[in-house]
Amino acid sequence: MSADPFPMRDALKVLRERIPEKPEVFLVLGSGLSGLAEGVSRRVSIPFGEIPGFPEPGVAGHAGRLVSGRMGGKWVLFLAGGFHFYEGFASGVVVAPVRLAAHLGARTVILTNAAGGIAPELRPGSILLLDDHINLMGRSPLAGPEVEGEERFPDMSAPYDPELQGLALELAGEKGIPLSRGSYAAVLGPSYETPAEIRFLKAAGADAVGMSTVPEVIAARALGMRVLAFSLITNHAAGLGSAPLRHDEVLEMGRVAGGQLNELIRSLLSRLTPLSGQTPTADPSPG
Ligand code: HPA
Repeated sequence: MSADPFPMRDALKVLRERIPEKPEVFLVLGSGLSGLAEGVSRRVSIPFGEIPGFPEPGVAGHAGRLVSGRMGGKWVLFLAGGFHFYEGFASGVVVAPVRLAAHLGARTVILTNAAGGIAPELRPGSILLLDDHINLMGRSPLAGPEVEGEERFPDMSAPYDPELQGLALELAGEKGIPLSRGSYAAVLGPSYETPAEIRFLKAAGADAVGMSTVPEVIAARALGMRVLAFSLITNHAAGLGSAPLRHDEVLEMGRVAGGQLNELIRSLLSRLTPLSGQTPTADPSPG
């Protein structure tokens, strides 16, 4: 008996019926970045409403679907419009997509998000390659009953795969796409930060701030997946720019500036080499 109400087996059954091949890579598309999923071939789009346990999307700009297909010579699975703690969802829902992707066979996760820039070079439109994070959400997606097949106390000394980071930097260099490296602070939200909170985050070593990604990174590491993540900087963090923060402007910036990040991810997919080793194939216990 588990306290986690997510119906993992039912969801897996539906996805296995709909998805033609095992995904190698799972990609999470952040606010305003869902355009990347439009470019897949052999596209199968599954709205959240058709997946057991998935809530309907609640935030404007979140398309709310899993998309399977081929990109860069790989079978990929996209999540457009994920679930966040600020929406009030339980951990079992927030990290259900990454767990499902792992059970379907994906060994690599690429996460994208929209974030506020704290480091002075991270102006709106910049791309940050995460090389570390600070979890200030006040919770871990792993807290609660132990989940079979997951590391209970995962090491987090290098959550972002150094080899994948190297490849991303190399490809960005080849394409002339400016790519910064730094730490992402994850906060609960949904209010944006105060200027004092941003000063605090800056003193703590954060280069950018957002309300997503870290739960998925923690779950993916517990599942033994390799992880890479990018922030698209959509705004100066509070107190660092002149204007108040507005969600619609954050989304619009994601759409406008997401093109380079999409290009970088496409080329990454075509240069990724498969990860050897075991796939976490054991099906979850009934939930
Ligand atoms: N703060 C938190 N989350 C965000 C921001 C921000 O400034 N911009 C986009 N997501």
